[in-house]
Amino acid sequence: MSVEGRVKDHFDADAARFDAIYDDAKGPVARFIDDVWRGVVRRRYLLVLERLEPLAGKTVLDVGCGSGRYCLAYAQRGAARVVGVDFAAAMIDLARQHAQRLGVLDHCDFRVGSFPESVPDGPFDASTAMGFFDYVADPVPLVARMRELTRSTMIMSFPKAREWRAPLRRLRFWLAGCPLFLYSEARVREILKAAGVPSYDWIDLDRDYVVIATLNPAFPSSQSHSRIVGEARE
Ligand SMILES: C[S@@+](CC[C@H](N)C(=O)[O-])C[C@H]1O[C@@H](n2cnc3c(N)ncnc32)[C@H](O)[C@@H]1O
Repeated sequence: MSVEGRVKDHFDADAARFDAIYDDAKGPVARFIDDVWRGVVRRRYLLVLERLEPLAGKTVLDVGCGSGRYCLAYAQRGAARVVGVDFAAAMIDLARQHAQRLGVLDHCDFRVGSFPESVPDGPFDASTAMGFFDYVADPVPLVARMRELTRSTMIMSFPKAREWRAPLRRLRFWLAGCPLFLYSEARVREILKAAGVPSYDWIDLDRDYVVIATLNPAFPSSQSHSRIVGEARE
C-alpha cells in the first residue's frame, strides 16, 4: 500500500484518540502522559492562534486539518472562511460534528481528500499545516503549493529527527504500520528553499521546528479589503 494509503488508514482508525489530546476532561495520569508525550500538539496550537491574530474577516486554509481544532478556532475568532482538508474521513466527520456543536459550520468548508488535489481554489490570507509533514514523503511540492495558495502568512511544523522521544515515536509508528518522517534543521531549510520560501521565522518548539513565513505582510485581510473597496465606492 502507498504511504498515503497507510497514513489515511492510520488516522481513520485513530481519529477519536488523536482528537482527545485537545480535551481537558481527563484524569491526572492521562493528562501527564499527554503533556510529556504530546504536549507539543497543544503548544503549537496556542502559538499558531497567537501568531495569526487578528483573524477577523480572513480566509484560512488548514492542510491536514484532522478533527478541525484549528479550523474551529479560526472560525470562532471571526475568520470569514476556513477550508480544512484531510484525507481521513473519520477526522473530517469529527471536525463537522465539532463545528455544528459550536455553531461555526457555516464558516467552515471541510473536505475529505488529499492535499493539494482537493484545494484547486484560493488564494487564502493564511495557511497552516501543523503535525502534517510528519506523514509526508515528499514535502517540497506541498510546501510550494501552500506558498502559491497563500497571500500573507504560512505556518508549518516539522518534527525533529534528533530529539529524545524520536526513537520511541519511530517504534510506535512502525508497530502501527504508519509511515513517519522526521527532519533535521538542515533538511527543513533545504525544503523551504526548494519550495521557494525565502524568509521565515524559525521557532524551536518542544519536539517540532515551527516555521512562520510572512509572504506579504502588507496584504490586507478580506474584511479590511472589502471595507476599503466599499469606502472607495462611496
Ligand atoms: C496528526 S494529524 C494533525 C491534525 C491537525 N493538523 C492537528 O494538529 O490537530 C495529521 C493529519 O494529516 C492528514 N494527512 C496526511 N497527509 C495528508 C495528505 N496528503 N492530504 C490530506 N491529509 C493528509 C492525516 O489524515 C491526519 O489527519
